[in-house]
Amino acid sequence: MANIIGAVTTSHIPAIANAMANKQEDTPYWKPFFDGYPPVRKWLNEKQPDVIVLFYNDHGLEFFIDKKPTFAIGVADEYHNSDEGWGIATIPPVTGESELSWHIANSLVEDGFDMTICQEMKVDHGLTVPLSLMWPGNNYGHVKVIPVCINCEQHPMPQPWRCFELGKAIGKAIESYDEDITVAIFGTGGLSHQLDGERAGIINREFDIECMDKLVSDPESLTKYSNLDLVKIGGAQTVELNMWIAMRGALRGKVTELHRNYHAPISNTGSGVLLLEHEMPSK
Ligand code: DHB
Ligand code: FE
Repeated sequence: MANIIGAVTTSHIPAIANAMANKQEDTPYWKPFFDGYPPVRKWLNEKQPDVIVLFYNDHGLEFFIDKKPTFAIGVADEYHNSDEGWGIATIPPVTGESELSWHIANSLVEDGFDMTICQEMKVDHGLTVPLSLMWPGNNYGHVKVIPVCINCEQHPMPQPWRCFELGKAIGKAIESYDEDITVAIFGTGGLSHQLDGERAGIINREFDIECMDKLVSDPESLTKYSNLDLVKIGGAQTVELNMWIAMRGALRGKVTELHRNYHAPISNTGSGVLLLEHEMPSK
């Protein structure tokens, strides 16, 4: 059976890709951010997960505000990024995992999640920046990625509790897959930020740290927030926390924090990275 071996959360700010392309990792501005990543890269290198199931949000590249699936899953063999306006350099395609994607899609629909199933799908910085961060030099081609996209841009958006349930259903789907492969779950985006409007630039460090703590030991408490609560507490785009909550739903039993880093601001955002493991089912 497929085994979930752990999970990673990370910011997906487009400026990160630009900083790497321009070799700015060691500058005073970027160092405290990039210093958070070597332990995660090391873990990925040692564990070599076969597949990454990656929760992200599409910021208008594939799904503009005229058509917004609440939840979408990619089932393609390959995904392409194109610059959606942030000036991100051209990068190699992302490898998919069609068979497991279809297995998850079938299982989710049976469990009452009416997914939009995408046989073709452009993927934006929400998916690609984390891959570039984890495999420097954009050396992520060997890893198979299953994109799971959550609407965080256009109301009505799925609530935190529903995203947690989606994560649980995906965990169950992965563990019912009859191939001996390893899977890591990524949740990208967050934490507190607002990119436009009167409150542009607000960051709530205290809340960000509390989210990271709760994500490890008490994720149910995060599902009590509504999206409107998140907007009030941390700014309009704090709803991206839902990707982290979905990731956490896929883990089970006792969850162990192996590593964390928090730094703010990076661009307009409170930026956190977490590396988690959980109790693996006994075979
Ligand atoms: C920024 C953060 C995001 O989550 C995003 O999607 C785009 C930009 C930022 O802080 O610049
Ligand atoms: Fe974002």
